[in-house]
This record gives sequence, C-alpha cells and structure tokens, in this order.
Amino acid sequence: MDDTFLKNIVNTENFEENIKLLAQRVNEKIVFSTSFGIEDQVISHAIYSQGIKNIEVFTLDTGRLFPETYSVWDKTQLQYNEKIKAYYPNTNTIENYSNEKGINAFYNSVDLRKECCFIRKVEPLNRALVGAAVWITGLRAEQSNNRNTVQEIEWDEEKQLYKFNPLLNWTTEEVVEYVTKNAVPYNLLHDKGFVSIGCAPCTRAIQPGEDFRAGRWWWEDQSKKECGLHK
Ligand code: ADX
Ligand code: SF4
Repeated sequence: MDDTFLKNIVNTENFEENIKLLAQRVNEKIVFSTSFGIEDQVISHAIYSQGIKNIEVFTLDTGRLFPETYSVWDKTQLQYNEKIKAYYPNTNTIENYSNEKGINAFYNSVDLRKECCFIRKVEPLNRALVGAAVWITGLRAEQSNNRNTVQEIEWDEEKQLYKFNPLLNWTTEEVVEYVTKNAVPYNLLHDKGFVSIGCAPCTRAIQPGEDFRAGRWWWEDQSKKECGLHK
C-alpha cells in the first residue's frame, strides 16, 4: 500500500463514501480514534450508519474525562448498538505518577503535564495502534495553526502507518450542520462554549472570538499546546 493507492481510494466528493471505499479496499487493519468531540461523532456516524464492521473504533479513557464525555460515549453505543473499545493507562505507571508527583501535578510544569499526557494518552494510543495500517482521526485544519500543514492522507514515520483525516477541510459550521441533520449524539459541553474537549482538569470553555484551542492547557505557552497524540 502506498500514498497513491490510498489517495485514489478516498478521492470522491463524499466523505462517507470515502470511508466506505477505504473499508472495502484496504485489507489491513484500520482503526479510528474518537475522543467523542463533535467531529469524531461525525466519523462514528459515517462508520456505523453504513454498517462498516472492519474499522475498529477506540477511545483513550484517561480517567480524567468529563461526565458529559462518558454520557455521550454511552449514548453513542446505545444509539448505534456498537461497542467502542477503551484503552486505559498502565496501572503501575499512573499509580506512581499520582503517588509521587500528585494527582494534579500537571499544573506545576510543562514537563509534568507532558508526562501525564504520555501516561494517560500516548502510551495507550501506541497500544491501540499496534498492527494498524491506517489510523483515522477527526483532525481539522481550522483547529489550530499547527494543523494547517496536516494532509488528508499522510504517512506517519514514527508510528509507521497512514493517517487519514477525512474532515480536514470541514468548517465548524459544516460539522454542526451534519450532526443536526443526522441526529448524531454529541457532547453537551459543546452547547456551553466548549469547542475542543479533552480531560476535565485541562479543558475549559472559550469566549466568542477566542482561538479554538484556547480552552486547552490554558495556563501554558501557546506553542506547547499539543499532548503528543499528533505530531
Ligand atoms: S489533542 O491532541 O489535542 O488531544 P484533539 O482533542 O484536538 O487532540 O483531537 C484530535 C483527534 O485526536 C480526535 O479527532 C481523535 O481522533 C484523537 N483523540 C484525541 N483525544 C482522544 C482520546 N482521548 N481518545 C481517542 N482519540 C483521541
Ligand atoms: Fe493529564 Fe491533563 Fe494531559 Fe489529561 S490533558 S492526560 S489530565 S495532563
């Protein structure tokens, strides 16, 4: 499999069709990571409503998610009658971190924050991606400046797989319209000014006009705001 092969598969105008074609034509393992954010819900809907069974949908349950996030997870499983696979942090590592550094130590320094993100997200992600040839994500270019350079299909050298970002060029309005039209369950925090939703202690609502990611790790320098899931 190479770039051209994948790009030729996912080149229709319709993103649902592209996901279906990908599932039909790629004989290797395909996974989709969901954080239950609104764009991820669009992709889950496209997978489940088309009856696609060979894309594994998974989430990284950091243990620090909002109650609303757990609710939309549960609601999604019920509505589509599907199970979303959960990956958890390694018990020993997170016990050591909490006991030695503190349960909320991530507020104390960027290093401690990155260590927490590594334990709760990156290491479980690496396990979730084992054996996968294609990793689908809900990344959008609008979400941050760093994401302007992201491609719809890109080779991830570190993870040795292809990333497929089907909603890369969607606007927020398009995402909201799709969710409304298709009665897709969504995280109710989106109605309260939360746009990009991660762990509860590290996410807050934003004010109109603020940057999309202003509510994530808001106490840190702008340039440091990625958790290591996406390079
Ligand atoms: S992050 O890097 O800042 O945490 P963001 O919240 O913007 O990521 O989400 C971008 C994409 O990363 C999502 O569409 C989803 O594919 C993946 N992702 C982020 N957080 C998780 C999570 N907890 N579990 C699974 N996938 C996630
Ligand atoms: Fe830890 Fe916050 Fe990163 Fe979640 S977002 S893993 S709580 S530092």
